[in-house]
Amino acid sequence: MAFSIPPLPWGYDGLVGKGISKEQVTYHYDKHHQGYVVKLNAAASSNPDLAKKSIEEIIHTERGPLFNLAAQIFNHTFYWNSMSPNGGGEPHGPIRDAIDASFGSFAKFKEEFTGAAVGHFGSGWAWLVKDPATNKLRVHQTHDAGTPLTEGLKPVLTCDVWEHAYYVDYRNDRAAYVKSFWDAVNWDFANANL
Ligand code: FE2
Repeated sequence: MAFSIPPLPWGYDGLVGKGISKEQVTYHYDKHHQGYVVKLNAAASSNPDLAKKSIEEIIHTERGPLFNLAAQIFNHTFYWNSMSPNGGGEPHGPIRDAIDASFGSFAKFKEEFTGAAVGHFGSGWAWLVKDPATNKLRVHQTHDAGTPLTEGLKPVLTCDVWEHAYYVDYRNDRAAYVKSFWDAVNWDFANANL
């Protein structure tokens, strides 16, 4: 198969203590994230040029269904890494300084990111990105499979706000799910992305 995804960084039950259940993660990873891989591999089986590309090359060169599959594969891998069983709490290290410099305080950043995640209409993603034009961090939203990679922005953290990310645990209560995201947010990953 041309494309595959890494295993979950903390297994199916790694975020149970953060309010994201094994059943929720299993559906999300096995049925949704892997589902995009199955569909992209099916397309690649009859398209040798596609099979030779990396996921990021597909994101930058394709449009329509192939872009959607590759972008969702990238976005989900980034999302799993944005959370950790040891995550949550206040940011530390360089990400703390960058958040303070860009937003004024962690509380202001958290308020803005939460507003983007809870308020995004329909399916999409809330991101913390670094904008190379200003060298500052900012909150960003993408819709459906949209990804900051095509907008010249460097992703730092993301929260999946498609309903499939939280419906098992929280039904329609996206705000409760976003609270769990904060309890799990992986500041080490954010630091690595700066
Ligand atoms: Fe998802």
